[in-house]
Amino acid sequence: MATTIAPVQIHRSVQEFLSRPRKLLIGGQWVDAKSGKTFATYNPATGEVLAQVAEGDRAEIDKAVAAARKAFESGPWPDMSPAERGRLLWKLSDLIEQHHEELAELETLDNGKPLLFSRIVDVPTAVDVFRYMAGWATKIEGTTIPISAPHAKYFAYTLREPVGVVGQIIPWNFPLIMAAWKLAPALAVGCTCVLKPAEQTPLTALRLGELIQEAGFPDGVVNIVAGFGETAGAALASHPDVDKIAFTGSTEVGRLIANAATGNLKKVSLELGGKSPNVVFADADLNAAIPGSASAIFFNQGQICTAGSRLFVHKSIFDKVVDGVAEESKKFQVGPGMNESTNLGPLVSKAQLARVCGYLDSGAKEGAKTIVGGHRIGNTGYFVEPTILVGVKPHMKVVREEIFGPVVTAIPFNDPDEVVAFANDTIYGLASAVWTRDISKAHRMAAKLRTGTVWINCYNVFDPALPFGGYKQSGWGREMGHAALELYTESKSVCAQL
Ligand code: NAI
Ligand code: MG
Repeated sequence: MATTIAPVQIHRSVQEFLSRPRKLLIGGQWVDAKSGKTFATYNPATGEVLAQVAEGDRAEIDKAVAAARKAFESGPWPDMSPAERGRLLWKLSDLIEQHHEELAELETLDNGKPLLFSRIVDVPTAVDVFRYMAGWATKIEGTTIPISAPHAKYFAYTLREPVGVVGQIIPWNFPLIMAAWKLAPALAVGCTCVLKPAEQTPLTALRLGELIQEAGFPDGVVNIVAGFGETAGAALASHPDVDKIAFTGSTEVGRLIANAATGNLKKVSLELGGKSPNVVFADADLNAAIPGSASAIFFNQGQICTAGSRLFVHKSIFDKVVDGVAEESKKFQVGPGMNESTNLGPLVSKAQLARVCGYLDSGAKEGAKTIVGGHRIGNTGYFVEPTILVGVKPHMKVVREEIFGPVVTAIPFNDPDEVVAFANDTIYGLASAVWTRDISKAHRMAAKLRTGTVWINCYNVFDPALPFGGYKQSGWGREMGHAALELYTESKSVCAQL
């Protein structure tokens, strides 16, 4: 592990934030849980408690939904012009930018991810998402429609209106970015929100709540209730006065959310798991494909729903590519995220460590061969070696299930038809990638891969303007781009007889 460079001195404002009791944002007030309960959030690099946070449950979800309903129906929010909503979103993006270093450190302390990436990926992406959606606030349009109904003349048009009170449940792998992906489009169109951050990583969402107040959003427009999934999350998903639920997380919980939503038939969008195929053809530029395939799986310690966790390589270059990715994996500086030189941090939690180590054991038992890695590192913190498995068979758990850790299975293929069949042989359909210099082959593959995103000669490229979501059991709906606006609006048809 990297121990050569001293850890970053924690920013004074982060120390201050951590020293204050962390409460819940409901109706514009920071409140404790009615039960008085709190829960601990941990530093994954050490396993030590970082902060105590008020533990929201059904009572707090009820209060937050009531506050969101009130803010949706009365007060300044429904009367605000689209331009005013856009200005508030832009102001929030400025505040996030002004608190860049503080938020980056808080994210790294709570999630474990390298500060390097919190600084260049997480915080700037959150800024960009709020800015992109700020621009949409003034561009949400209906259409005029010439209709042919008999006996009279009519003027008909559609309006796009906010869906109402939105519940948003987010995971721990990109806590601030996930909060931005959820809140920004909902607020741009005029919804009000109850956000439940993941219990592993509530801190940046709570700090964001303070910035939302500072930006001047009216009370109750954004409510933030930290708490556990089985309690606060389940209460939000089943709440009869929530009009829409948006969820990012495991496919297993996505199914629970969809079921819970049937009570009042609230609208549902789901962004779930993946087992993304990353395909390297013999004609690829290996100087790009090899490091690209390494970062496809090892970025964020593999804890990303798009992780390129199934690496398919043409048999003529299989050893060369696998050896190359193995070499790349040895270059990673594994260590505490707060260490400036670290580019691979710990997993988020003890539970995630146990889950990933369970897959390593299962791979070994089922006969997979480990080329590099394969073990936990040390006894402090939740570090796992970057790992490459070969000699795997299609039925193995390590090939079929989402591991959500730095573990890739490498599999040889003979021709494009075969690799399309391999790639699509999964319950998931979130993302895929193709590395080739043959432009026709690249686009033929893009058409055949059953995934919501296909990257060509790149990996994990996201943009606020580019729709993102999954085929098959990777989810329902598309976030980002103008597709996100559809998730948070209803279409109303108005027909007037002239
Ligand atoms: P999870 O799906 O349990 O957690 C995600 C969010 O859902 C959290 O906010 C959690 O509190 C909430 N939640 C949990 N149970 C709920 C319920 N019954 N009702 C409402 N909300 C609920 O994910 P977990 O357990 O943290 O991780 C397990 C696996 O899920 C990972 O190993 C990974 O495979 C997958 N995962 C996928 C993510 C993605 O980005 N698609 C993100 C996080 C996890
Ligand atoms: Mg869970």
